Amino acid sequence: MESYSNALSFHFITISMTSISKKTRIVIIGVGSVGSTTAYTLLLRGRMEELVLIDANKGKAIGDALDMNHGLPFVSRAKVWAGAYEDCREADIIIITAGAAQRPGENRIDLLKRNVTIFESITTEVLKYKTDAILLIASNPVDVMSYFTWKKSGWAPRRIIGSGTLLDSARFRYLISEQLQIDSRSIHAHIIGEHGDSELPVWSLSNVAGTALTLSEEQKDFVFANTRDAAYQIIEAKGSTYYAIALALDRICTAILRNEAAVLNVSTLLTDYHGISDVYLGVPCIVDRNGVRETLPLSINEREKELLHISANKLKGIIHSISTS
Ligand SMILES: NC(=O)c1ccc[n+]([C@@H]2O[C@H](COP(=O)([O-])OP(=O)(O)OC[C@H]3O[C@@H](n4cnc5c(N)ncnc54)[C@H](O)[C@@H]3O)[C@@H](O)[C@H]2O)c1
Repeated sequence: MESYSNALSFHFITISMTSISKKTRIVIIGVGSVGSTTAYTLLLRGRMEELVLIDANKGKAIGDALDMNHGLPFVSRAKVWAGAYEDCREADIIIITAGAAQRPGENRIDLLKRNVTIFESITTEVLKYKTDAILLIASNPVDVMSYFTWKKSGWAPRRIIGSGTLLDSARFRYLISEQLQIDSRSIHAHIIGEHGDSELPVWSLSNVAGTALTLSEEQKDFVFANTRDAAYQIIEAKGSTYYAIALALDRICTAILRNEAAVLNVSTLLTDYHGISDVYLGVPCIVDRNGVRETLPLSINEREKELLHISANKLKGIIHSISTS
């Protein structure tokens, strides 16, 4: 009898706590290959209690929500639905993966004009309903999209985050790990700069548990070329990339939701980062509940600084040409 009443009161406490605590909500705008894989990854890993899917193609969002709901008996408790922009009001994180995907042979900059128009309309809608979420952007060219979204939003830059070179750094670590036959999670190595053709490897600071990498120049060239060109290779092979970026977005969401202060190579607004300002670029950032807390000033060598400036100037040129066209 006593255990029954204890169970009852425990049940009551659980219900009351649930009813007063705000549910964690993630909204994904654009549930194509990247968006729906990200939704599925977040669901599998139990990252949120509410998951809202929005797409210009409503049927796709409805179908994905139904499909994922049917899997709920096998995963943690969550509510998934095809929503509307009003649902951004209660969101903790809004992930934007809408846009046109890279076509075979097309570089990320060529995607820009198609995606800027799409972004303008999405940001306008989001801003109507939401004032304090974190916007996480994956659509390419991600650094430029993040910069324009920050400009348009008027929000603090810490709350507009691009996925940056987190994926590229993961590819880099994986390829180094293959050369060394050491677990990729034990490889400490960064790709910084543009998520794209002008990105750069930070060889001078790459290591395994503090020990220098034993790679020949030939191996390094192979690793970096395959990191930088990975998206082209995958797109050539199967049309688009989505599994690894979904895991990278899940990693960023986790750092935010758990207030981790994790160091992740995301794209953020730089202010005097090795003399670079007023551009979004991927660099190591401390990510917590409020977004990007600060950037970490990597002690890169003179050649790496030069390459980072080249990458920044390339993006600034693009931003300038769009702003003035
Ligand atoms: N940052 C990264 O590391 C990374 C990695 C892979 C892909 N991407 C980028 O992610 C984006 C999406 O790629 P994908 O392969 O999922 O493309 P996709 O074509 O499969 O999906 C795009 C989705 O966006 C939707 N959409 C288009 N306009 C919209 C609007 N105005 N409002 C809402 N939804 C809209 C489309 O209906 C479609 O479902 C591309 O820009 C791609 O280059 C980025």
